[in-house]
Amino acid sequence: MKVLVVGGGGREHAIVRKLKESPRVSKLYCAPGNGGISRDAECVNISAMDIDKVVSFSKEQKMDLVFVAPDDPLAAGMVDALEKEGIRAFGPRANAAIIESSKVFSKELMKKYQIPTAAYEVFDNPQKAIAYIQSQNQYPVVVKADGLALGKGVVIAKDLEEAKEAVHSIMEEKVFGASGNKVVIEEFLTGPEVSVLAFTDGTCVKPMVSSKDHKRAYDGDQGKNTGGMGTISPNPYYTEEIAEECMRTIFQPTVEAMRAEGRPFQGCLYFGLMLTPKGPKVIEYNARFGDPEAQVVLPRLDTDLMDIIDAVIDGKLTDLEIKWRDCATACVVMASGGYPGSYAKGIEIQGLDDQGQVEGATVYHAGTSYEDGVFRTAGGRVLGVTALADHLEEALQKAYTAVEKIHFEGAHYRKDIGRTK
Ligand code: AMP
Ligand code: GLY
Repeated sequence: MKVLVVGGGGREHAIVRKLKESPRVSKLYCAPGNGGISRDAECVNISAMDIDKVVSFSKEQKMDLVFVAPDDPLAAGMVDALEKEGIRAFGPRANAAIIESSKVFSKELMKKYQIPTAAYEVFDNPQKAIAYIQSQNQYPVVVKADGLALGKGVVIAKDLEEAKEAVHSIMEEKVFGASGNKVVIEEFLTGPEVSVLAFTDGTCVKPMVSSKDHKRAYDGDQGKNTGGMGTISPNPYYTEEIAEECMRTIFQPTVEAMRAEGRPFQGCLYFGLMLTPKGPKVIEYNARFGDPEAQVVLPRLDTDLMDIIDAVIDGKLTDLEIKWRDCATACVVMASGGYPGSYAKGIEIQGLDDQGQVEGATVYHAGTSYEDGVFRTAGGRVLGVTALADHLEEALQKAYTAVEKIHFEGAHYRKDIGRTK
């Protein structure tokens, strides 16, 4: 099979690596890919958002499958466009990807189908949003832009002043553009956070092994929210008992709700959960694999990913047994100096071999370029240094030992991955 993966980050590198293990895959492309991915797949210079070019390239090349990994092309209907041309594609159609791209949609879905989530109200008028926050007088309060915002559209405001500032910048300054036409004002929840990715064919849902993301930039959960600075799998807080409760109250009801709405979700559905004192609740849905969750979950997969993709597209997931390795994984993200703010690019990375790897770990490249045998930084999150072992402590040690071998000017990474709530 000829397979094209759309996207160019660490998540896509993990997907490419997994697909490369499949005996059914003979040729792998990635659009646009990155320096590290170029050692594993043929990178094509097409932006992940360029639907027309992805479709025409896939037609020309007679692609057997296109795996659409990032949120924006899914929300923009890349899967619909490919299917229209008779090309098989993995990922939800636009009418289902909306579960991530509109928080108003997902909150209303949860309310209608009684799926546990934080209490909330929606506003399209900033004065009314602020009046509501004042009348509630409960802090912290959570202010969320409706649409996609690179994981930065959520503000946890500790007082009225901060809440006003958040409403102002989202709704009036429009820092996230049209994504801020509406806001969700939400109750603040507490408890450990868990990421659960699940395969679903629209009817059957099969959760993958759990993981935990560390979203803040610095140790001790300080600094700004990022796309994710590191992950571990499994998540130590996610017990067998909690998994059963989530299946019953969240996973199955969500998939059924989407089908009942005429928006069957086929692909990878990501449940961002908080284990509150009142039980597990949904913080957010994503319509795709998480990044860097994919980097710790996929290495534990023991079933051919191509077989799962087929079952998801053909609605035959019930019949497939998905096997996972009983082990632990840890991923430490090495980021550019300044990230998640502005940062320099083009800095040489030392310590990687000519495959972009180091001994003892798997290095998933997130933001790198490769030219004349040299890897350079090309993004905020640069590398996801990942290790697998029988136990979490050992996986973390292996990942950090590998991180020590890699150098680039300004590099920063968290030293407490797997060690905070
Ligand atoms: P999101 O982009 O929706 O995942 O939100 C980013 C982060 O904000 C989450 O991972 C949580 O840590 C935090 N967050 C979002 N909603 C809430 C909430 N209702 N209560 C507490 N924390 C929240
Ligand atoms: N790591 C969180 C996300 O992919 O949204």
